[in-house]
Amino acid sequence: MDYDFAILDLADDSDDASARRRGWVGAVLRGFRDPRPDDELIDRWVGHYREDRVTVRGAWLPAGEFGAGPMPVATYASLDKTLNAGRELLPLRMVTDVTTSAAHRRRGLLRRMIEDDLADAVEQGVPMAALTASEATIYGRWGFGPATFRHAVEVHTTPGFAFRDFTDAGRVELLEPIDAWPHVKAVFDAFHARQRGSVEWPTQYQDIHTGAYDFNGSGSHRKIRVALHLDQDGQVDGFAVFQHGEKDTVSVDEMAALTPQAQLGLWSFLAAIDRVKTVSFGLFHPDDPLMWALTDLNRVKTTELQEFLWLRVLDVPRALAARPWAADGALVLEVDDPLGHAAGRYEVVTRDGVAELVRTDADADVRLTSEMLGSLYLGGVPVLQLHRAGRVDGAPEAVRRFAAMADLSEPAYNLTGF
Ligand SMILES: CC(C)(COP(=O)(O)OP(=O)(O)OC[C@H]1O[C@@H](n2cnc3c(N)ncnc32)[C@H](O)[C@@H]1OP(=O)(O)O)[C@@H](O)C(=O)NCCC(=O)NCCS
Repeated sequence: MDYDFAILDLADDSDDASARRRGWVGAVLRGFRDPRPDDELIDRWVGHYREDRVTVRGAWLPAGEFGAGPMPVATYASLDKTLNAGRELLPLRMVTDVTTSAAHRRRGLLRRMIEDDLADAVEQGVPMAALTASEATIYGRWGFGPATFRHAVEVHTTPGFAFRDFTDAGRVELLEPIDAWPHVKAVFDAFHARQRGSVEWPTQYQDIHTGAYDFNGSGSHRKIRVALHLDQDGQVDGFAVFQHGEKDTVSVDEMAALTPQAQLGLWSFLAAIDRVKTVSFGLFHPDDPLMWALTDLNRVKTTELQEFLWLRVLDVPRALAARPWAADGALVLEVDDPLGHAAGRYEVVTRDGVAELVRTDADADVRLTSEMLGSLYLGGVPVLQLHRAGRVDGAPEAVRRFAAMADLSEPAYNLTGF
């Protein structure tokens, strides 16, 4: 079938363009098995997409074909924000809203749109692409590799929960979400600027964290609560966006802190809420001090550990120069990339934490796919582990040298799902 591939013009207010936008949002929700959108959801969605200059792609049935209309049979969107690569905030192509109608699956619709978009990112000089995936089996073929993980915990706060030696020198205050938002955003921005692996928030996050609109339901989200942590001088240095759930539980949607004291202060506040027995959080920071600050570290139970942020390097020299390196060294790295963007052999020389890369014809010391380059980009997935799994190739000495250069001791972490 000759599908009609198009990019929607979000500024066009004609009836046809609005009908296609409505159809497009409807197709995304259908693809994710959500209820049909109402007018408010569409207005908010399109408003955010205009603000973030999102490129909205779709595939429609050709005019005259049975079933043709404003609703596409495949959707795909992307926007450019930043990734904290460790040494700089790197321009990032963020991929989202990927769906194909169940009646048109496996005919190459996603392939066509993702390959067009990655080629466009390269043309625009964007060195990296990213996504968060619903299934781990889809995106490796396009050179994306998992680079950060989603570590969900349940903290049991029933009697006996105690800190070894922590008293909050600051304090916590509950604000109405709309009043808390400027503080939440300011803490997130400071966190994003310092946390390797962090992805900037799309503008939709304002509606989500103020409870202004529930994109998974409709209308406002009236269960959202926000706790702010203030340091000794009264400066806001942490936040938790949370909801009270069933049976004495609290579930934290989002939490970030700028200091370990603020992190422990937030945990201490959440754990002390009367009649709450468990506090759950889906994105526990690998360096969260909580377990080691408690008298009983088994109070923190891991309930899930799975991939979260997938990265796809598009410009190897630019991207690898933007991340820190752990040791001085030199080697020739060969990247195999079926799409070609990252393919080639590069001489990597690291000195004082900074890499310089030049293309070379010399024999490779270490060989890997663009997918594995994405996985080890943030330094959180160990090179030797990938080597043992048969996914990074090279003589043992060269692989160890590469590991010493590339593995980073401070963990990468991302809080942003999209
Ligand atoms: C994921 C999805 C968008 C794939 O769309 P599609 O148009 O059928 O994909 P394509 O036909 O372009 O597939 C291209 C390749 O990816 C593979 N692929 C696609 N979806 C896959 C999946 N879910 N699991 C494993 N492989 C998958 C295809 O087999 C094909 O592989 P090949 O080229 O090696 O033969 C579609 O299945 C979908 O809408 N799923 C529900 C919503 C969803 O999960 N979206 C992803 C959000 S991150």
